[in-house]
Amino acid sequence: MQGWIIPPPKEPVKTRAQFRREREEKVRRLARDGYLNSDRIKDAMLKVRREDFIPPLYRDYAYLEVPLPLPGENATISCPHSYPLFYEPLGLDAGHKFLEVGLGSGYGTALAREIVGPNGKVVSIEIDPETFEFARKNLRKAGYDDIVLVLGDGGLGYPELSPFDRICVTSACSEIPPPLIEQLRAGGRLIAPVSEQGTQDLVLLEKGRKGIKRRVICEVLYVSLKGGYGAGGFRNT
Ligand SMILES: C[S@@+](CC[C@H](N)C(=O)[O-])C[C@H]1O[C@@H](n2cnc3c(N)ncnc32)[C@H](O)[C@@H]1O
Repeated sequence: MQGWIIPPPKEPVKTRAQFRREREEKVRRLARDGYLNSDRIKDAMLKVRREDFIPPLYRDYAYLEVPLPLPGENATISCPHSYPLFYEPLGLDAGHKFLEVGLGSGYGTALAREIVGPNGKVVSIEIDPETFEFARKNLRKAGYDDIVLVLGDGGLGYPELSPFDRICVTSACSEIPPPLIEQLRAGGRLIAPVSEQGTQDLVLLEKGRKGIKRRVICEVLYVSLKGGYGAGGFRNT
């Protein structure tokens, strides 16, 4: 995790009540700092216990603005502000069919499940089997049993359930994988960190009937996408 200072692992000591206070304070701060506007995203961030998606030795740092290591190779749970940073411009909302590429801890997936509500659907793909298993257990323990979890290369999307209203890629790609654009519904939006000569931009795509609109939101720093569309070489597989 180049570029971030990760606090040292330690036995967790914080109580549920402490975490709840930290979560409420975090939501207030994100709203005050302009990251968080939508009530649905706010309510999801208040409801989902982020600490339950973090390995015990990093759990007490749940509400710090740092990505924290997860089981698996190069997997992290992104910092708390990343979720509204992605979900607000995406306009993630009730009833959406949502695809996440990069399940990680399952935290962003749980938030999305809360946001899309009973009439929506969430599909999440993870490429690392160890990370996948960690997330699967976290989601099951937290009571999420209707999310479609897929072990595989998310760059290929999930044609079985396409088209999607919203797609979120949680690792940096050198170019947005074409299968994801194909699997986006007309009128849909996709958000992804895109690497550009050593830096990364958070890019929002809107698929209109006449073409694709592309907007850069801000600079970001994410782990690299793996698989057929990863940084090692962009190819059509
Ligand atoms: C920043 S983490 C995701 C954080 C996650 N949203 C959370 O809330 O914990 C990025 C994840 O993308 C996964 N990943 C990387 N390349 C992938 C690919 N091609 N397909 C699916 N997952 C991938 C990594 O293994 C890692 O778990």
